[in-house]
Amino acid sequence: MAFVFWFGVFVLLSIWPSVRCSDLPRGAIETACRDRYLLVTTQLSFAGNEPRFEAIDADGVHPITKQYGSECGYMFSILPLSGHAELRASYFSCHTDNQDDEVFTFSFNLITIDAKGVETTYTVNANCSLPLPWSPREVSCEENYMEVSVRGDVSGLPGTKADNWTAALATAHSSATSTWQVMFQQEGQQLTPMSLSEARELGYVFYLTQGRLVFRSPYTPGSVMGSVTMVNGMLVEMVYPILVSRQRWVVIMVDLVVACSTDEGMYDGAGLVWQTPTLLSPLVSGLFGLESSNISMGVDGQLLDEPITAERGYSLDIGDTTVQISIPFNAAGGYRKSFVMNNMYHEFYVVRLYYEQTFMDDSGVETRLRLHRPMNTPLLIQHISIINQTVLEDRVFTVYLGNLSYDVDLVAVKLNGHNFTIPEANKSGLVITMVPQPNSTLHAYILRVPFDAVIHKLYPTEGLLEYSLEINYTLVILPQEEPYFYLASVVAQFNDVFPPVFKGVCNEKSISFQMDHKPFDYLWEVGVGPYRLTPNLAAKRGYVMRNDSKRLTLEVPLFSVGFTYKDINLKQFRGTFEILSRFPKTLEVKSSLAKACLFQTTEVIVCSTEGVMTVVSMILAIPGSEPSRTSLRDSTCMPQAMDDTRVLFSFRLDTCGTRVQFDYQHLTYENEITIEHTSQSVEAPVSTRVTVRCVYPLSGLYKLFAYRRFEADSPGFGTILTRVPVKN
Ligand SMILES: *[C@@H]1O[C@H](CO)[C@@H](O)[C@H](O)[C@H]1NC(C)=O
Ligand SMILES: *[C@@H]1O[C@H](CO)[C@@H](O)[C@H](O)[C@H]1NC(C)=O
Ligand SMILES: *[C@@H]1O[C@H](CO)[C@@H](O)[C@H](O)[C@H]1NC(C)=O
Ligand SMILES: *[C@@H]1O[C@H](CO)[C@@H](O)[C@H](O)[C@H]1NC(C)=O
Ligand SMILES: *[C@@H]1O[C@H](CO)[C@@H](O)[C@H](O)[C@H]1NC(C)=O
Ligand SMILES: *[C@@H]1O[C@H](CO)[C@@H](O)[C@H](O)[C@H]1NC(C)=O
Ligand SMILES: *[C@@H]1O[C@H](CO)[C@@H](O)[C@H](O)[C@H]1NC(C)=O
Ligand SMILES: *[C@@H]1O[C@H](CO)[C@@H](O)[C@H](O)[C@H]1NC(C)=O
Ligand SMILES: *[C@@H]1O[C@H](CO)[C@@H](O)[C@H](O)[C@H]1NC(C)=O
Ligand SMILES: *[C@@H]1O[C@H](CO)[C@@H](O)[C@H](O)[C@H]1NC(C)=O
Repeated sequence: MAFVFWFGVFVLLSIWPSVRCSDLPRGAIETACRDRYLLVTTQLSFAGNEPRFEAIDADGVHPITKQYGSECGYMFSILPLSGHAELRASYFSCHTDNQDDEVFTFSFNLITIDAKGVETTYTVNANCSLPLPWSPREVSCEENYMEVSVRGDVSGLPGTKADNWTAALATAHSSATSTWQVMFQQEGQQLTPMSLSEARELGYVFYLTQGRLVFRSPYTPGSVMGSVTMVNGMLVEMVYPILVSRQRWVVIMVDLVVACSTDEGMYDGAGLVWQTPTLLSPLVSGLFGLESSNISMGVDGQLLDEPITAERGYSLDIGDTTVQISIPFNAAGGYRKSFVMNNMYHEFYVVRLYYEQTFMDDSGVETRLRLHRPMNTPLLIQHISIINQTVLEDRVFTVYLGNLSYDVDLVAVKLNGHNFTIPEANKSGLVITMVPQPNSTLHAYILRVPFDAVIHKLYPTEGLLEYSLEINYTLVILPQEEPYFYLASVVAQFNDVFPPVFKGVCNEKSISFQMDHKPFDYLWEVGVGPYRLTPNLAAKRGYVMRNDSKRLTLEVPLFSVGFTYKDINLKQFRGTFEILSRFPKTLEVKSSLAKACLFQTTEVIVCSTEGVMTVVSMILAIPGSEPSRTSLRDSTCMPQAMDDTRVLFSFRLDTCGTRVQFDYQHLTYENEITIEHTSQSVEAPVSTRVTVRCVYPLSGLYKLFAYRRFEADSPGFGTILTRVPVKN
């Protein structure tokens, strides 16, 4: 069946312009001769966002549109992630000059559009010498077309069984004319011959070179002549043309079956996975095993050595029925893009897989299949994780913000409405630590904010104390510093938070208080009247204060500042001392204990806030004294009560001859108790004078001057002074 192609080749008559590159930036347009195609790349920074190409030959200029490219062997794509556009032109593309299947000459126009919409045309010329000898049969599964070329002298093409030949032969004999015709084999359908130009109108291109027969078909699922079948559960697209020519009594038939796996790959959560049948049945019959097959992989149209693919984490599993390729997310060789959408981190990963398989049939005829397959993950949302790691006892909010990609940085936090950049936060005593996440490229931040730096709320009646922290994280994606925000809130609650409880005990000459410490005592201050109880105040007023880790005890001696007195009689009187707890900020009293005790009356002087002096004085000590002849300076003011040893006077400070003295800070009221008594040694009666004095600070008496009413802020300080025996 051997025969020689006698088709002529185009002769190029025109003279092509040379490559214009003097005015181009370096790397703006580059060409490279790959195994079976010319690669033209142009940087988008140079060519704008929508460059396009035209193929040029003697017939003129042919814009490379999507449709035209898939019929004529051009694959053009714009790749924003890698910042370039590329054109792959098959050595058998329509407008390429082919010299003996060895030297291929290309000419293109690159049309760029700048930001203002101005178009510029650059001419790109390139020559390629075949880098690798042709295999008897070569299949190219491009992104947009399938192409097969067979050596002109192939006999007994593989993959065709006798029955089909018989059927085809029968049809050929009856209908084939002397020019070439094509019959498309389709499952369960009659073989109908058509002319090559009829086939061309359907988008199928047949082409005869010096030594090879080429067939090219766009992917057209469900197309007239092609078919999509499942092979071992994987989609395979196939077109099966048989070229026929009858010259006199000889019928020449060439089987140009082409089949490509059209699996689009999928994302399995860890990476991209692509599958293909190990043996593509229309291309290779099941009789030839795996051992006659070599498989390799790569990316971006170039094969990679095993050490490199292993280093990048790619895997290639060759099974009896299926070849599976896995490329981990974000492995080298692909492109990853991250951006903010709806205030959330999104990312995807794209890789352009390249796959090559060679197989040998039993007669040693080699087929080489090459496949380009771009794959991408779906748009992935990176879900931030937030973990509340707060331990109440530490009194520090600890919040873990995790699942951040390596290209995300925390730049600021807003805590309960206060902005902090990360350096500011550090200065303010907040701790923000970046930590890696085990077994991943993710990282996390741990934020520590002491409770005391945070607003708290207290519900004293329920005994509930609540700290809450609202966090607004500002994250940015690097390097574009695209910001997004993440909100979190944490609370910490303590139960049984009640104000301090005091216990009071009456002693003979003092009152003792005791307060057992509880963890939240610091929320309140302990006070005496308007003053806060401090060691200083205690020392000044003569209180005996002890404060250890367990409890606070306070012993208040009788008559020290803060006491109030009531029900004074000669036997006893009631002394009261009040201790309280309150909020330092509002001074709102939250608990108090006013402890009242009965004390034995010996000597007492009380200067009330209403301006009444009450005094019990001992007269027993004065021999021969006669209580009944005892009076104040105004001798009509007699004791209200008396017994053998004591007298009790109680009088308003503006009566009974009380004298008043001012100095800078005090108002002093003074009176005298005069006690008449007889002395054995002296004939004349003798009197003893006891000076009683009430001193009020002027500052607490403004009402006396304003309203002429005696109403002191606090009781006056009383003293009973020396008794001086005076001769009458
Ligand atoms: C390609 O080859 C042709 C003829 O062999 C020659 O005229 C042309 O200059 C070459 N072009 C380039 C870009 O090498
Ligand atoms: C080739 O022949 C086999 C066996 O008769 C048949 O199953 C198959 O469908 C035929 N192929 C085509 C493309 O007609
Ligand atoms: C597979 O590769 C080996 C070594 O590179 C080579 O010897 C063998 O011929 C190849 N087989 C096919 C079917 O190409
Ligand atoms: C981190 O994100 C992954 C997937 O996005 C998710 O499965 C995982 O549960 C997240 N981790 C945490 C701690 O939330
Ligand atoms: C916090 O910072 C943002 C911008 O970074 C600003 O709009 C806002 O007013 C700031 N808020 C406060 C309370 O400082
Ligand atoms: C915070 O500041 C201290 C020194 O003041 C430094 O040692 C520490 O690394 C800083 N931490 C961060 C998270 O920047
Ligand atoms: C992380 O990796 C270590 C060793 O590489 C392994 O022992 C551990 O189980 C892994 N942890 C997770 C959560 O995958
Ligand atoms: C978080 O902070 C950013 C920047 O300050 C602001 O634009 C955003 O509205 C805040 N989010 C909320 C819910 O407060
Ligand atoms: C956070 O942790 C603390 C302490 O374990 C706990 O009291 C609180 O309920 C947790 N949850 C939130 C949302 O803050
Ligand atoms: C008692 O001591 C504690 C610390 O042990 C302190 O917090 C508290 O303020 C002290 N109380 C008074 C009234 O000084």
